[in-house]
Amino acid sequence: MRRLLLLTVVVGCGVPEKVDAPQPMEPRAMEPVQQQPPQQPLTGLPCDVRAALQASCAGCHAGSVAVYYRGFSTRDDLLGLGDKVAERLSSPTFPMPPRDAERQPTEAERLTLRQWVQGGMPAGACGALE
Ligand code: HEC
Repeated sequence: MRRLLLLTVVVGCGVPEKVDAPQPMEPRAMEPVQQQPPQQPLTGLPCDVRAALQASCAGCHAGSVAVYYRGFSTRDDLLGLGDKVAERLSSPTFPMPPRDAERQPTEAERLTLRQWVQGGMPAGACGALE
């Protein structure tokens, strides 16, 4: 009986404990801290939209000529017009630009404007119309 007890103790102690090998320290790359200027929320017009408006609408609606008509130069101005922009862009009776305007937008420009209006006139990085 004693022997059995002794044997248990010996066997129990004889198992070498598994010791975790110390982990080698990983050298940390010194990453430069990215110093970025704080992001300003966009308030302008998307650049392709601005280009299309400048080419086909600004001549009558922006700058000093706009005193005769409803003027718009910024995105805020256009937001203020609500659904009128969408309506007039695709109006069969009173289209914008008017049929006798100097320049009609290209198909690509019409698509750009229509998609912008349908998308809720999101802001972009380009400035106001001149
Ligand atoms: C040749 C000049 C001319 C051009 C170019 C022109 N417009 Fe107009 N627009 C007018 C005139 C004049 C009116 C006011 C009479 C009317 O409602 O038809 C007007 C009215 C509008 C109105 C309605 C404003 C209101 O308060 O009811 C919108 C919206 C508009 N234009 C958008 C546009 C857009 C967008 C473009 C370019 C895709 C454009 N216009 C190009 C002359 C122009």
